[in-house]
Amino acid sequence: MTGSSKGGSVAERIDFLRSEISRHNHLYYVQAAPIISDAEFDRLMKELVALEESHPDLITPESPTQRVGAAPMAAFKSVRHVVPMRSLGNAFDRGDVVAFDKRVSDTLRGSGLTSHDGNVEYVTELKFDGLAVSLRYEDGRLVQAATRGDGQTGEDITSNIRTLRSVPLKLVGDFPEVLEVRGEVLMNRSDFDRLNQAQQRRGEKIFVNPRNAAAGSLRQLDPRVTATRPLRFFAYGWGEIRIRHDGQTEVFQQESGVPSMPRPTHAKMLDWFKEFGLPVNDSRKVVKGSEGLLDFYARTGSTRTQLPFDIDGVVYKVNSLAAQDVLGFVARAPRFAIAHKFPAEEETTTLLGIEVQVGRTGAITPVARLKPVFVGGVTVTNATLHNEDEIRRKDVRIGDTVIVRRAGDVIPEVVSPVLELRPAGTSLFLTPSNCPVCGSAVERLEDEAISRCTGGLFCPAQRKQSIIHAAGRKALDIEGLGEKLVDQLVDSGRIKSLADLFTLNAFELASYERMGRKSAENLVAALDQARTPELGRLLYALGIRHVGETTARDLARHFGSIDALMSADESQLLAVNDVGPVVGGSIIRFFGETHNREIIAALNDAGVHPKPEVKTAGGGQRLAGKTLVLTGTMPNWSRDDATRHILAAGGKVSGSVSKKTSYVVAGEDAGSKLVKAQELGIPVLDEGGLKALLEGA
Ligand code: IVH
Repeated sequence: MTGSSKGGSVAERIDFLRSEISRHNHLYYVQAAPIISDAEFDRLMKELVALEESHPDLITPESPTQRVGAAPMAAFKSVRHVVPMRSLGNAFDRGDVVAFDKRVSDTLRGSGLTSHDGNVEYVTELKFDGLAVSLRYEDGRLVQAATRGDGQTGEDITSNIRTLRSVPLKLVGDFPEVLEVRGEVLMNRSDFDRLNQAQQRRGEKIFVNPRNAAAGSLRQLDPRVTATRPLRFFAYGWGEIRIRHDGQTEVFQQESGVPSMPRPTHAKMLDWFKEFGLPVNDSRKVVKGSEGLLDFYARTGSTRTQLPFDIDGVVYKVNSLAAQDVLGFVARAPRFAIAHKFPAEEETTTLLGIEVQVGRTGAITPVARLKPVFVGGVTVTNATLHNEDEIRRKDVRIGDTVIVRRAGDVIPEVVSPVLELRPAGTSLFLTPSNCPVCGSAVERLEDEAISRCTGGLFCPAQRKQSIIHAAGRKALDIEGLGEKLVDQLVDSGRIKSLADLFTLNAFELASYERMGRKSAENLVAALDQARTPELGRLLYALGIRHVGETTARDLARHFGSIDALMSADESQLLAVNDVGPVVGGSIIRFFGETHNREIIAALNDAGVHPKPEVKTAGGGQRLAGKTLVLTGTMPNWSRDDATRHILAAGGKVSGSVSKKTSYVVAGEDAGSKLVKAQELGIPVLDEGGLKALLEGA
């Protein structure tokens, strides 16, 4: 092999590796559909690095090895935008959108630029909540990247943008001679959370939201820092475009467009960008008229929480570029496009005070009292502050201007104070040393973040919350027992414990505020139904610390009755699935307290008797390894009852009969499953037979 041909083959190999690496980068970072493993990708990269090290003359700035190459800068240079970077007008409601569509169609009427039915065609896009940037490609190579700045002049962030894996350093396909592509840089929410966790561990700045994190990451003078930040880019527009055409360079004009496109549209431009390997988000749609726009808004609004990144609205753009030209610009915004904003999820307001709420287990939660503020589509006056440590960490003080966030149905929270606006005379929050409701001492265990009221059920707040808990859907499921009524019942002294609930009658209930005769009767009926709960639900309703829904069910199955559970010692408790010393200790302590035993006795006296539970202890998992099929109607047990008992005994319930079926339980009107069982010679039981099997007969 001669020297030159060897050099040629190295150059070819390098070329091949570079385009493979770019292709896999695109598949990974843009399509989220990698086709090779990380290890294989690393091998390609390693080989390229080695070849470039031995042939430094072959290194080019577009090589994927050169993404993080630049040295830290002293300051950003400024960049003048050849085509200004404009912003968008805003629509906030239906009326604004209808008016926008009317302005557009009035202007275009008679121009032949509307569709046959007279409707204007639009492209609808997401309004990414990040930072606008402009990327300049010359001969397909990324030569410059700039921020929007004031729209005329921005900052040169080329070295930083080059570190984004989703941004191609080199375009592919039939790209124009010059292409200035515009779009948004942003950060996924999950990446933002991870970044903040890492920042906290290192004792570095915590970012308020993904947008600020993206901005902070792009404004780094050291590109090596930007390279560690998980930023992404989506293209949605363009600035200057020059196209080589018959040997001549033409400036791209919207009317003449791309030579290969007879009637260029915004949608086609974005498809075209995609062909060059640029990331374009796929949520865009072509729609007609204001109905089409509003439909996209509604759909996007209801699915936005499923997106991996934040958006603050949607953007509507007239699709035909010729029509865009007719419409033109007013001041700094186009007449052919508009942003339709979602109600802001973050607003600032004044923190008027901090009160504490006492929960069911006595946990003291600080709650911010706010000057009413419209955020996330509702007026918010209270927001959670989690706990005292969190308040210290965020340095939130009473009197501060604070950022309040309410996203989706999530409880509103105070994100942070706006330190620049801190007035004189703000005050710190201190957890009270006595419960504001019952006056009992408040204590904080060393390894816990929360303080607790030590009043137990003596504390009316804990009593109310524990009754609300017991009435809940996962517990006794008492419909019609709302918070307001519980407040009145506890405050009037009528209800001191869960058991007292079952002594209420319709006549007295009707005398409470907002209770009519009918609702009183309904509540009494609901209480009657709640008198025969499943044992697991009753145990859960008692609110024993560390005993959740599942543990309660396991305990019920294991012990079969409340008496058996109450007299269990630690070793017996530890025999239950998932019960360790903490849960076991909590159960023993709970039943060790006289007033808890009294409540259980009172519940019994008030006629609360859980349904009999089939014990699985002692007899062990009697049906372990057995699969049963239920068919037809049993005289006493419902399908659910039977299933519950079989599962409790460690068995499985299947919907179809096969050779693996251990028993078929057949009731009245059993059909094909019974026939199949007989064919396969599988034992068939009736309800009595099933009960005998469960009891180990
Ligand atoms: S088009 C001439 N499309 O919103 C119109 N902007 O409020 C130029 N933005 O500065 C903008 N998503 O940072 C456009 N799909 C989208 C967008 C979008 C987010 C941002 C952009 C712009 C701001 C205007």
